[in-house]
Amino acid sequence: MQTPQIVQPIKSIDELASFCKRAGFVFPSFEIYGGMAGFYDYGPRGVELKNNIKAQWWKSIVQDREDVVGIDAVTVNHPKVWEASGHVASFTDPLVDCKNCKSRFRADTLAKDILDADVAGSDLKTVTELLKKTNVRCPKCKGELTEARKYNLMFKTHVGPIESDENVAYLRPETAQLIYLNFKLVQDSARLKLPFGIAQIGRAYRNEIAPRDFLFRVREFEQMEMQYFIKPGAQSEQSSAAPRTKGASENKKFFEQWKKERMNWYLSLGIKKENLRFREHKKNELSHYAKAAADIEYNFPWGWGEIEGIHDRGDWDLSQHSKVSGKDLSYFDDEKKARFVPHVIEVSAGVDRAFLAFMCDAYKTEKERIVLKLNPKLAPIKAAVFPLVRNDKRIVKSAGNVFNELKKKFAVFYDASGNIGKSYRRQDEIGTPFCITVDFDSLKKKDVTVRDRDTMKQKRVKIKELTGYLEKQLR
Ligand code: ATP
Ligand code: GLY
Repeated sequence: MQTPQIVQPIKSIDELASFCKRAGFVFPSFEIYGGMAGFYDYGPRGVELKNNIKAQWWKSIVQDREDVVGIDAVTVNHPKVWEASGHVASFTDPLVDCKNCKSRFRADTLAKDILDADVAGSDLKTVTELLKKTNVRCPKCKGELTEARKYNLMFKTHVGPIESDENVAYLRPETAQLIYLNFKLVQDSARLKLPFGIAQIGRAYRNEIAPRDFLFRVREFEQMEMQYFIKPGAQSEQSSAAPRTKGASENKKFFEQWKKERMNWYLSLGIKKENLRFREHKKNELSHYAKAAADIEYNFPWGWGEIEGIHDRGDWDLSQHSKVSGKDLSYFDDEKKARFVPHVIEVSAGVDRAFLAFMCDAYKTEKERIVLKLNPKLAPIKAAVFPLVRNDKRIVKSAGNVFNELKKKFAVFYDASGNIGKSYRRQDEIGTPFCITVDFDSLKKKDVTVRDRDTMKQKRVKIKELTGYLEKQLR
C-alpha cells in the first residue's frame, strides 16, 4: 500500500522569496550594488507567470466582454492630473520619525504590529495619542518618536532640462486617472454607450515608507485596473450630493456584480476558497475618492492582506477633471436627451500581489520534492520534453521532433540531460503540468509517456494525438 504524501504548505514569505530567487522567478533588484528596498525584478520563470496572469485578466475583462475596451497610457504625468484627483493633498500615510536614530515608520503599521490595534481611518492626533499613551518607541533603538504627520507617497520628477517647480511631474501612483483623462476620446472613437468599461494594465509607483513582505508592498509595481462607467440615475447609497432612490441603486448593483466577478476570477484560476475573503471598508477608512470600497484579501503566511480593491468612485474623478481642466467630460444620453457625468465602479488589482497569492497557494513541499501546483493556464511552461537517454540518436531525434511540433502551440521546454528523475523535479518546482518522455517503446509504438505534475502518474499517448491531448488538458 502506498503511504499518503505529507504535503506541507508554505511556512513563511522568506521561504518563498528564497525559492523564487533560486528557481528564477523573482530577484532582488540591483543586487550587485547592495539592493534597494521595495524593488524586484522578474526572472525567466517569473516573467512568464506574470504575463500569463495579465493575459488571463485581459481576456476575462476585455476580450471576453463586449462592454469593455482597453488603453495603455503614460506613466510620467502632468501635475494637474494629481492635483485634480486629490492625490497631491490626500494620497498620504501617517509617518513618525525616531528622534534618536532618525528612522522613519508608518504610524498605523507600528500600532498594528506592536499593539495589534487597527487605526485605519483614524486622524493623526488619535494615532499620535495612542502611540504616546502606550509608550511605543522606535523598534530599532527604543528612541522617542515624533508626532505623526502626513507623508505623500507620490514620486516626483522634473520634465525637461530645468529642475524647477514649474516642471514638476509625478510618476502615477495608480493607472486609473489616465483612464478618466481619456474617457471622452475613448467613448467617442469606440462609440460606446453606458454602461461600459475602460481597462488598463500598467506600472504604478508609490514611495512606500516601509516596503515589506517581499512583493506585497513594493515601490514600483503593476496594476490591472478597469473603470466601469454607469448612469448616475440612482446615486450611490453613501452619496450625499444626490437624492437617494428607493431600493438597490445602480452603483450598489454594479458594485456587487463586480465584486462577484472578481472573486470568481481568482477562484477559477485555482486559488482555494478558504484563502480568499472580502473586507468591506469602514466609512472612516475610505480613500478620498471612494463612496464605498471592498477589498479582496488573501490569507498570506503572515495573515490576511489586500490583493484587489473594488471601489464605488461616484462621479468624483470625472467631475474633478472637468472642474480643474475646464473641459466637459460629461456624457450625452441619446435616448433620454440628457447630459450628465457618469459614475464609476472600479476594480483595481495588483499584478505583483496576485502573483504572490498564486505562488503562495501553489507552493507545496512533499517528501521528496517541491511542487508548484499552479493552474495550467498560469504555468510558465506547459510541457517539458525529454529523451529517456541522451546517447541514443533515434530517441534524441524523436524527442526533438516532438518538441518542435509542440512548440508551435505551447510554451514548451526541452531537456536532453538524460536524467529523468532530476528533470521531473526541476519541472515540478516551476509548476510545469506535463512532462513528456520519449523512450525505447516510443520508437516502435509511436507514443510517449505523459507524466502529470500533481499525481505523478504516467500514461502513454500517441505522438500524433499529443497536441490535441494537451489542448484538452490546458483548456
Ligand atoms: P494598502 O492598504 O495595502 O497599501 P491600498 O489600499 O493602498 O493597499 P489600492 O490603493 O486600493 O491599495 O491599490 C489597488 C491595488 O494595487 C491593491 O489592491 C494592490 O494589489 C496594489 N498595490 C497597491 N499598493 C501596492 C504596493 N505598494 N505594492 C504592491 N502592490 C500594491
Ligand atoms: N485605482 C485605485 C488605487 O490604486 O487606489
